[in-house]
Amino acid sequence: MRVLLIGEGAREHALAWKIRQSPKVEELFIAPGNPGTEPLGTNIDVPPSDFGRLVQIARTHEIDLTVVGPEAPLAAGIVDRFNQEGLIVAGPTQEAARIESSKSWAKTIMNAAGVPTARAERYRDYESARQAVIDMPLPIVIKADGLAAGKGVVIAHSHEDAVTTLHQMMVERTLGDAAREVILEDYLVGLEVSIIGITDGTTIYPLLPSCDYKRAFDRDAGPNTGGVGAYCPVPSVDPELMVEITRTILQPTIDRLQHEGIVYRGVLYAGLILTPDGPRVMEFNCRFGDPETQVLLPLLDSDLVELLQTAATGDLTTIEPPAWRSGSAVGVVMTSGGYPGSYRTGVQIHGIDDVPEPVVVFHAGTSRDSDGTLVTSGGRVVTVVAVGDSIGDACDAAYQGVASISFSDAHYRTDIAARELAVGS
Ligand code: GLY
Repeated sequence: MRVLLIGEGAREHALAWKIRQSPKVEELFIAPGNPGTEPLGTNIDVPPSDFGRLVQIARTHEIDLTVVGPEAPLAAGIVDRFNQEGLIVAGPTQEAARIESSKSWAKTIMNAAGVPTARAERYRDYESARQAVIDMPLPIVIKADGLAAGKGVVIAHSHEDAVTTLHQMMVERTLGDAAREVILEDYLVGLEVSIIGITDGTTIYPLLPSCDYKRAFDRDAGPNTGGVGAYCPVPSVDPELMVEITRTILQPTIDRLQHEGIVYRGVLYAGLILTPDGPRVMEFNCRFGDPETQVLLPLLDSDLVELLQTAATGDLTTIEPPAWRSGSAVGVVMTSGGYPGSYRTGVQIHGIDDVPEPVVVFHAGTSRDSDGTLVTSGGRVVTVVAVGDSIGDACDAAYQGVASISFSDAHYRTDIAARELAVGS
């Protein structure tokens, strides 16, 4: 089989790494990929937004399956475009991808499906939203309806901050059209867990639970980021709870979409809060998580390509559910100092090739300068991942990997998975 993978982050490097392990795959192309994906296939310098050239690549290289990493091309209709051309893609259509690209629509689906989620109200005009927040208990969750590159959710801890955020989103339009509608939501308290499933539109196979870390600094301080660390599995999500999450959240969502005439094929990601009253959905995403994918795939024993191909074209009940190796995985994201604010790029990276086994380094914000030297080119530079028999072993090995990589101004959290070590896992 010939596979085209779209995207350029550490999530896509992890996908390329796992796709390459499939005995079905003869050739892998990555558009655009990054220096980490170079040894795994052929990087082609085409951005995920250029559907015309991506279709051309798929035709020229006789691609059997395309896998899409990021949400933006899914929300912009890449699956519809490829399907019109008779090409097979593992991912939801533009309409189905609204589960992520419209928070308001996702709420409608959840409410209609009876899926547990935070109480929420939608607002299209600033004045009514401003009036509403004045009476809401703190903190207040303010969400822009549309995609906003990780900047669309704000947790306001004072009514003044809530009003300022609403003004920025709805009057100053700092997020553009993404905040034409905003949602005001009750704040949920509990552990945040990511549950990612692969679905053919009828059946959904959940993958292992994982936790990511969104705040930039230790002890969940500092600004929100795209994700700076993760671990998998999550001890508090035992098999019984996974069954409950599948029965009360994942399956009803897929069933409801089908009821609306939408066959959702591909990856469905549920961001949950484990509240004292049970799991509640905070958000749905229409793709794999980043950095969750980097800790999920090293534990997956099954053939990812078979799972994604079957989800895209067939019936998942004809193949076995995903099988897993025992143990845990921990991933630490090394970032450019200053991220998620401004940071330097073009800084030389040392030591990646010296990282000891069993650590795997997934590249994100790296590139090669004119003489081939590996340099930084983004905020999240690499995810350093290790698998171990316990979370403690995986954590120690991941941080040993981190210690062998260096670049000027490098930053990383030192407490990834620490909460699990503290309870003796
Ligand atoms: N880790 C959060 C996300 O992928 O959206």
